[in-house]
Amino acid sequence: MKHRIITIDGPAGAGKTTISKLLAKKLGCVYVDTGALYRGVAYEIKNQEIDWKNDACLEAFLMGLDLNFNRAKDALLLTSSKKDITPYIRTPEITMLASASSAKPQIRLALLDIQKNIAQSQDAVFEGRDMGTVVFPDAPFKFFLFADLPVRAKRRYAEMPQEQKDIKKVQQDMEKRDTNDSQRKEAPLMAAPDAIKIDSSCLTIPEVVAKILNYIQKR
Ligand code: DC
Repeated sequence: MKHRIITIDGPAGAGKTTISKLLAKKLGCVYVDTGALYRGVAYEIKNQEIDWKNDACLEAFLMGLDLNFNRAKDALLLTSSKKDITPYIRTPEITMLASASSAKPQIRLALLDIQKNIAQSQDAVFEGRDMGTVVFPDAPFKFFLFADLPVRAKRRYAEMPQEQKDIKKVQQDMEKRDTNDSQRKEAPLMAAPDAIKIDSSCLTIPEVVAKILNYIQKR
């Protein structure tokens, strides 16, 4: 691996996104949100009304899929066949569909090259569920961020638009996602054996960033 790759895995609401973006900025490298790719697949499954549980339908759909990241100033945009779909991939429905459909090995395989190709040309912080275990098992810096479920649900609730607010539903959906993501056969959410585990339940964002930078700089 030519470039410096930092992996940040963990469940939803553990602080991965904010922390990965800050780290990338501090280290002067790019930030890659791999969850956006799974959300992009889910968005197109819904948009094109794909019967994704049927392997033949899913495979035909994946052959025509064209997802890419575009960087615009500070934002990371996701395009599908050159159309910006970033505004549509964070609804509760797409979130749950991304979690369910990401268990399909064909989907995971289709997204593998996009992720690996980014790492070929630049240093990057990759955020996801299987970065340290499957996509970049040789990454020199691996972190696994986690926090108690009620803390994570509260954080997600605070970020949501007013009209979608229901803390109980946020926590239930998060618990369901934790189960889907960690119990699937293919690339389940788990810490790589050599990942540094950080419990962010009682830490602020700057404290977590400082901890990670400290590990990186000590090496
Ligand atoms: O990180 P996120 O919440 O945007 O991810 C949405 C879903 O995508 C998540 O519930 C599981 C799936 N995902 C995955 O399976 N592997 C990744 N590397 C990233 C996300």
